[in-house]
Amino acid sequence: MSLLLLAMGLTLLGGLQALHKGPGDPNFDEKLVKGKWFSVAMASNEPKFITKDTDMKFFIHNIQVTPKSLQLHVHRKVKGVCVPTTMTANKTGKKFQYTVNHSGHKKIFLEKVDPQHFAIFCTHSVKHGKEMMVVNLFSRTPTVSPDVLWMFRKYCKTHGIHSTNIVDLTQTGRSLPPRPPVGRPWPWGP
Ligand SMILES: *[C@@H]1O[C@H](CO)[C@@H](O)[C@H](O)[C@H]1NC(C)=O
Ligand SMILES: *[C@@H]1O[C@H](CO)[C@@H](O)[C@H](O)[C@H]1NC(C)=O
Repeated sequence: MSLLLLAMGLTLLGGLQALHKGPGDPNFDEKLVKGKWFSVAMASNEPKFITKDTDMKFFIHNIQVTPKSLQLHVHRKVKGVCVPTTMTANKTGKKFQYTVNHSGHKKIFLEKVDPQHFAIFCTHSVKHGKEMMVVNLFSRTPTVSPDVLWMFRKYCKTHGIHSTNIVDLTQTGRSLPPRPPVGRPWPWGP
């Protein structure tokens, strides 16, 4: 029985991840995702990730691209307080796929991107045999056009996430960074 479940879980895992095609242009230069971003929406097949302040709910501020990784500078809400965190997403042998060890092992896929406007990243993690997906929409501006939101909804739908499991992060109290101590710049610049 458990073997059967395991087999089903693995098939599902392969199935969901196989849906990731990466950016339309296979020669897209991932270095272009560097710089300042805003979290405008997120979605998940696991409701608690979007309703609660779990480690999966974060607000992006900046991405640095190094030869071996993407450094995601984010803020998370921990017990109501904003905490800056850096997540290192190591590059893998596969293009536009990264691994991160942040509260467990996760795989991150860069999916759709228009480097001047938006980027969609999809994160997969497995807990107790259940595969959980979180999709993030980052924008270069604090809000996005209806076209981009529509595209994001469509992306979520194609990946099995119901529209009720999408949250607009521009409306639900963006996690503002706490004031840096006087005289100290932000750790990742303006
Ligand atoms: C990412 O790379 C660093 C340095 O090579 C390594 O220490 C770390 O374990 C890696 N993390 C993951 C999740 O593979
Ligand atoms: C992931 O992080 C945990 C706890 O920090 C550590 O024990 C584990 O070795 C790390 N795994 C990898 C692949 O880096």
